[in-house]
Parts: sequence; C-alpha cells; structure tokens
Amino acid sequence: MDILLQYVVKSFDRSTKVIDFHYPNELLQEYNWELADQPQTLEEILLNCRTTLKYAIKTGHPRYFNQLSTGLDMVGLAADWLTSTANTNMFTYEIAPVFVLLEYVTLRKMREMIGWPGGCGDGIFSPGGAISNMYAMLIARFKMFPEVKEKGMAAIPRLVAFTSEHSHFSVKKGAAALGIGTDSVILIRCDERGKIIPSDLERRIIEAKQKGFVPFLVSATAGTTVYGAFDPLLAIADICKKYKIWMHVDAAWGGGLLMSRKHKWKLNGVERANSVTWNPHKMMGVPLQCSALLVREEILLCPTLVTADSLSLLASCCMSVSCFKWKRCPAIPVGIHYPIA
Ligand SMILES: Cc1ncc(COP(=O)(O)O)c(C=O)c1O
Repeated sequence: MDILLQYVVKSFDRSTKVIDFHYPNELLQEYNWELADQPQTLEEILLNCRTTLKYAIKTGHPRYFNQLSTGLDMVGLAADWLTSTANTNMFTYEIAPVFVLLEYVTLRKMREMIGWPGGCGDGIFSPGGAISNMYAMLIARFKMFPEVKEKGMAAIPRLVAFTSEHSHFSVKKGAAALGIGTDSVILIRCDERGKIIPSDLERRIIEAKQKGFVPFLVSATAGTTVYGAFDPLLAIADICKKYKIWMHVDAAWGGGLLMSRKHKWKLNGVERANSVTWNPHKMMGVPLQCSALLVREEILLCPTLVTADSLSLLASCCMSVSCFKWKRCPAIPVGIHYPIA
C-alpha cells in the first residue's frame, strides 16, 4: 500500500518526470526477466513492484497528455481497490448483489442522460469501446435478421455498414470479427473539420442498395479519435429513419460531454440513436476500463446475446465490475460522476 501511495503522490507532483524512458533492450538487459521455477520471496516481489512503477508512465501526472484517458481520480482509484478486494464478477445478483444493482442504476442514468424517456432501454458494460461497437453491430444485425443467430451469415443477404473515414478502426474490426467483412464497411467522406458529410452518406446508401446490398448500420462518431469531431447526428438520424437503418453513435470519447451543461449540445440527436457506446474511462477520468453499450430498445440485448445454455449476457463466463469507479455527487444518484463545467 505504501508503494502504491508513494507512486500516487509522485504522479500528482508536477516537478517529477512523467516517464523514465528506456529502450526495450536496456530494460531487458538491466533486469532478470526469467520466470523462475522457484517462488520469489515477498521482499523480492515488493522490489519488483517498485521497479515496475519506476518505469510506468504516470498517466495521472498533470503533464501527461497522451492518448484519451485523463488524470488519476482518487475516488475512482479507491473504488478500483475495493472492487479488486471484493474480487467478484458480474454474472448474477447472487454473486454480486450491490454491484449488480449499482450497474443497473448507473446504466439507466446513462440512458436518461442520452435522452431516452425515463432511461428506457437496456445496456451492458464491456471490456472497451471496440467491443461495445462490435456489440452494437451484432444487435443491429440481429434486429434485421434474427435468424443469423442460429443459421449464421450464409442465411442472410450481403450486409453493408456505413461510417466516416475518421471513425475508429474498431468498426471495421467488428465487421471482421462478426463475419460481415471489412469490405462491407463503407467509409463516408468528411468535411474539413472531420465531420461526416450527410449528403455523401445518403448517396452511398442509395448506391449500395442499387447494387443489391442491404444497409443495416450507420455508425456515427461523437468525438473522433484524432480530430475530436462530432458528426451531425440529427441529419444522420433523418437518413437512418428514411432508409430504416440502425443508427449507432460511437460516443466512446465524446460521451462525457453529456454531463456538461455547456457542451452537451454537440451530441444533439444522440437521443435518436438506436445504440450508443460511451466510455467513462476516456474523457471522464474514470479508471480503466469502463465502457458501456446502451441500447434504446429494451428487449434486444438479451435475445441477441443469450444462448440456451447460458443465461449470462457476458461474452465470457465472468466480467469485472466496471461501474463502481464513478464519484457520487449529492444531486445525482450513486455511480454518476460530477457534471463537467
Ligand atoms: C471514437 C472511439 N471509439 C472507440 C474506441 C475504442 O475504445 P477502447 O479503447 O475502449 O476499446 C476509441 C479509442 O480510442 C475511440 O476513440
């Protein structure tokens, strides 16, 4: 505990280095990396812990400006320690009563903030935004062709999805993993600020239909990975409605703005989405990892993910607790971080 707290104090100290950089070969030469057959003593293990933190990047440092996660939140960190101490997983109420209830109210609150009446719908925490995006694709495909669950891709027509040229690579990866194929993800042009051009989206949908493909998903991005651009969600929602296509919003990064009175307008139209990816571990400073997929229609998630031999929604047998790491503020129920700005 002392070693960890010393590291935390150093992380907050502006005068310390963010990184003590060494090339891989230097680190490999300096230390013995062999996994010995004999057990190590506790002293040796503690020494290894110190060494590990010596070379760790201090992601909570005030001068840390690398990818996408922000700061080190002490309440979140304490909650992470509590979660690891409880060392349970999320598959049933029986094994994790408080965590399961907390997950339920947290996901409902997130859906309320998206703008779905009364927080209606469903949701699931997942190992990250990429998996949440893949879940969205899975559910959209199931909604259009439920038979795909039992019969596979051979039983359905050739699907196509649309996303911007600045969207996260996970959209293509999801298509690869689900057997839809990366060639079936059509990249739509963006304007000079990195936002999708709606007229180009509509043109490409019409083109795909003329070729006999079935458009099943548009994945808009609220906060692109490189530019931080917000796609015009209202215009995209109109197009999805017109062509009866599932609208997903990848708000993995930008979702945190839904907590800001000043900036949440950037996500206007997100309430018209069928599903939303939102990663509190990005802009909201919640410790890694914490990603949610929210779905507007209540009865979709279960039939898509549950199989006869497993009642769990989780892809694996168990999953860590993601929802406990947010701060509580008196005006807002448990599990929700303080509003930004
Ligand atoms: C817009 C966007 N979507 C999805 C992801 C994937 O999130 P994760 O790294 O949690 O899988 C990222 C990650 O950078 C992202 O920026």
